[in-house]
Amino acid sequence: MENTPEKKSRVLSMIQPTSVPTLGNYLGALKNWAAMSSDNDCLFAVADLHAITVRQEPAKLRRQSLEMYALLLAIGLDPEESVIFVQSHVPAHSQMAWLLNCYTQFGEAARMTQFKEKSLKHADNVNVGLFSYPTLMAADILLYQTDFVPVGADQKQHLEIARDIAERFNGAYSPTFTVPEPYIGKTGARVMSLQDPTKKMSKSDPNPKASVSVLDTPDEIMKKFKSAVTDSEAVVRYADGKDGINNLMGIYSCCTGLDFDAIEKEFDGKGYGDFKKAVAESVIAELKPVQDRYNEIIGDKKFLEKCAAEGAQKASYLAGKTLNKAMKKIGFWQI
Ligand code: TYM
Repeated sequence: MENTPEKKSRVLSMIQPTSVPTLGNYLGALKNWAAMSSDNDCLFAVADLHAITVRQEPAKLRRQSLEMYALLLAIGLDPEESVIFVQSHVPAHSQMAWLLNCYTQFGEAARMTQFKEKSLKHADNVNVGLFSYPTLMAADILLYQTDFVPVGADQKQHLEIARDIAERFNGAYSPTFTVPEPYIGKTGARVMSLQDPTKKMSKSDPNPKASVSVLDTPDEIMKKFKSAVTDSEAVVRYADGKDGINNLMGIYSCCTGLDFDAIEKEFDGKGYGDFKKAVAESVIAELKPVQDRYNEIIGDKKFLEKCAAEGAQKASYLAGKTLNKAMKKIGFWQI
């Protein structure tokens, strides 16, 4: 990612407020957001409109949106430096999503893996919002002329459709949207379940031992890593078929900055017990400052509301410019 003194890259990403983020969300996305925030022109948001593609309990959605916003500040994002907002506070997202629906083919949306997976999981509520989820995500990205989108590997397909939509619109009229690129970290892009390391670590996993939340206590974190599924070889090395150990090595690498060679050396001749304990300790140390900051600000609703209102105002200004431009090109009568 190249920044010149005159122009910083525009970076945008979002997270759904469907529960406390997992270590997967944190290592796959949030940690990169914080790292990118000082050198780039960044926007980060709570994707609450996306959350209602699955039925939500109103009071819980409200509370979790505020908590997720507080967490974004707690991971080290600075509202003076980056624009930090809640998606539904900026109506341009819904407006742009409608426009982009009309530039997206049914077949393209139907191919999305996430749509297929969620349709199976929520078979009683395969709503049109779930189907058009990627066009809302494209709207989020294209509204801000985004250059880079830091996400985990599971969002890559949604980024591809956002690029296709941008290129199609630009081709139909004239350059209107920046064509965004995904930014997927080398490690941490796919943190796997601790109980079934062939499956992605997910907030919605019914087995509480499968995922670590960023607000878990040190005790809970230690217990979950101690019961993580590994293999019978008892050698800490990165190799095909060692999904559990590979996953733990990825997590340890993200939290310590060590590469896989260095990790193999460190645990040469040691058992999985020592390794799991070290991984848990590195995660506990990584999350401690986030948890401390979160506990400091979560009770200060006035402060959080003020930050969110300012974020929404800044985002609305930027989004309004692109929305206007796109509507003009399409041919809307503007008064
Ligand atoms: P969401 O809320 O499911 O996840 C937020 C971010 O966490 C990443 N992630 C993971 N990374 C590594 N390992 C895992 N196990 C793991 N689980 C989740 C996700 O890739 C994501 O980066 N549709 C998006 C939210 C969204 C968005 C956007 C993102 C809405 N609009 C615009 C980017 C740009 C989502 O549901 O993420």
